[in-house]
Amino acid sequence: MERELFFRSGCDNIVLSQNRISKAKGREGMTAIYPVEEMRKRVRIEDYKNSIIFGDSEAALKRMPSGSVGLFVTSPPYNLKNSTGNGMKDGRGGKWENAALQRGYVNHTDNMPYEDYVRWQRACLRQMIRLLRDDGAIFYNHKWRVQAGLIQDRSEILKGFPVRQIIIWHRKGGINFNAGYFLPTYEVIYLIAKPGFKLAKGANRAGDVWEFTQENKNPHPAPFPEALIDRIVSSSEAQLIVDPFGGSGTTAVCARRFGRDFILIDNSAEYCEMARKRIDGENWQQEDEWKSVAAK
Ligand SMILES: C[S@@+](CC[C@H](N)C(=O)[O-])C[C@H]1O[C@@H](n2cnc3c(N)ncnc32)[C@H](O)[C@@H]1O
Repeated sequence: MERELFFRSGCDNIVLSQNRISKAKGREGMTAIYPVEEMRKRVRIEDYKNSIIFGDSEAALKRMPSGSVGLFVTSPPYNLKNSTGNGMKDGRGGKWENAALQRGYVNHTDNMPYEDYVRWQRACLRQMIRLLRDDGAIFYNHKWRVQAGLIQDRSEILKGFPVRQIIIWHRKGGINFNAGYFLPTYEVIYLIAKPGFKLAKGANRAGDVWEFTQENKNPHPAPFPEALIDRIVSSSEAQLIVDPFGGSGTTAVCARRFGRDFILIDNSAEYCEMARKRIDGENWQQEDEWKSVAAK
């Protein structure tokens, strides 16, 4: 089935179907989706407020002006399929057979050589730091892993960045079909902050271990629960919140709930459209099509 995605770029609107992009007339009042190629270098950030950018996040961030963002909230792909275990590696099934992420994302296999993955994430973080205002911060969600007996605590990615605090997100559940391991129930959120960043009044009372049940009604394979992002958004006074790995648009929905502006970036046209529908209050959860999309 062909899915039509509407993009606004300059005076033109671009319609993207799963396999082709062509120019056409978009609808008024919809959240705009801009293809990254249409961004002119270092444009005014206002031009992209409350919109979605379809394309590679590093490329999109590079086209934004320095010092223009108050808060980044993001969860990158974890590179889960680059695994020394036998489950997530090659999709043959086994213990991960039922995990939504077993197939990776629509436009990202989640299976980069480890050094390339670290280099890529550092490049994205460098851009985020460049874009942050002096009172800005990044909430960077990731997972610790043990691979071939060595701990991946993400310090290779974060070396040299101003990590201020580590928050534990206790998910109260997880995916593990292996009798040899305890059920994994936590992820980490790195607060990476510029010197001028301060929490909103009273936010520090939440402590550094947060309990939020993981999301299970969202057709995206790895969504944030809204309550978690509500906590982050309400802990800061930033007006513009950017999620460079925007997925189903949770960050945008929560930003709007608190009267903030957002920019989402994702390299899957399908997830961009899923987020747009969600932001615009259209039916986005019931679609059978997302399932076939995630299974590609
Ligand atoms: C962990 S998911 C984010 C989910 C999101 N937090 C939510 O609540 O739905 C990571 C997202 O990164 C996207 N992605 C992967 N590689 C990307 C790239 N190079 N540029 C932009 N987005 C990318 C995937 O399509 C996926 O939607």
